[in-house]
Amino acid sequence: IGKNYIFFDQIDSTNMYAKSNDLPDGTVVLAENQTKGKGRKGRRWISSKGKGLYFSIVIKRNYPLNDLMKLSLLFPYAVKEAIKDYLENQIKIKWPNDLYINNRKFAGFLIETEIEGNEINRIIAGIGININNEPEEFGDIKDTATSLKIEEGKTFCRKELFCRVLETIEKSLDKFSSLDLTDEIEKDLLWKGENIRILDEGIEGRLIGLDRSGGLKVLTEKGVLTVYSGDISVRKI
Ligand code: ATP
Ligand code: BTN
Repeated sequence: IGKNYIFFDQIDSTNMYAKSNDLPDGTVVLAENQTKGKGRKGRRWISSKGKGLYFSIVIKRNYPLNDLMKLSLLFPYAVKEAIKDYLENQIKIKWPNDLYINNRKFAGFLIETEIEGNEINRIIAGIGININNEPEEFGDIKDTATSLKIEEGKTFCRKELFCRVLETIEKSLDKFSSLDLTDEIEKDLLWKGENIRILDEGIEGRLIGLDRSGGLKVLTEKGVLTVYSGDISVRKI
């Protein structure tokens, strides 16, 4: 990863660029500023110039479709592993793929895949990490969004964190098949043991953990239900 870099001072969205160009495996598209940073479900991702890390990794390898959930969990897991030693605060993973500190989100992941039959052929892993962002930059989402600087009270070297993150993602991908993400993620799972609601599905219950393929297990009145879709939104109740 990172043998091929494409750097933009400003672009609409690194994911859109990576998707609409035929880039080789391992290419990293990085931007200082995105004018149309994308979140999941067509939402917006605030990308303030020079403050965070906004990048997309192109992975052109074949994976069985069954690995989709585990693959999309790999990215938040690897980013957490890469930066946790730099922080005093504990990082939590909000399933399926956001990273939180002190109940506020500081990193988001937009994992877009191309699938043919039962195989994943291409992954565009879009990663946004708020590093040195100030509270004012978040406008009306300042109660739910945060940055490493806001939580830790100091400025971070983005270059250093970026290198660590890429290195950790590369290592995690290389040992993907033997990697057991279930236990690793479960120990830092946001809202574990608490009551949650899964939007759209109408499921409510206690979040109890992850199953072996990365699905979310919820103890409801009807027993334990497991949800797999990466398009799901979980809320605390
Ligand atoms: P869920 O993932 O549970 O659906 P979410 O609010 O995290 O909820 P996403 O689609 O994952 O939704 O992320 C997009 C949302 O993230 C936006 O609607 C906005 O509220 C929030 N957001 C946008 N930019 C940032 C940012 N730089 N840092 C933190 N949060 C942001
Ligand atoms: C989310 O939380 O919904 C996902 C946010 C993903 C943001 C990153 S920033 C780099 C890449 N380019 C985009 O337009 N989005 C992702």
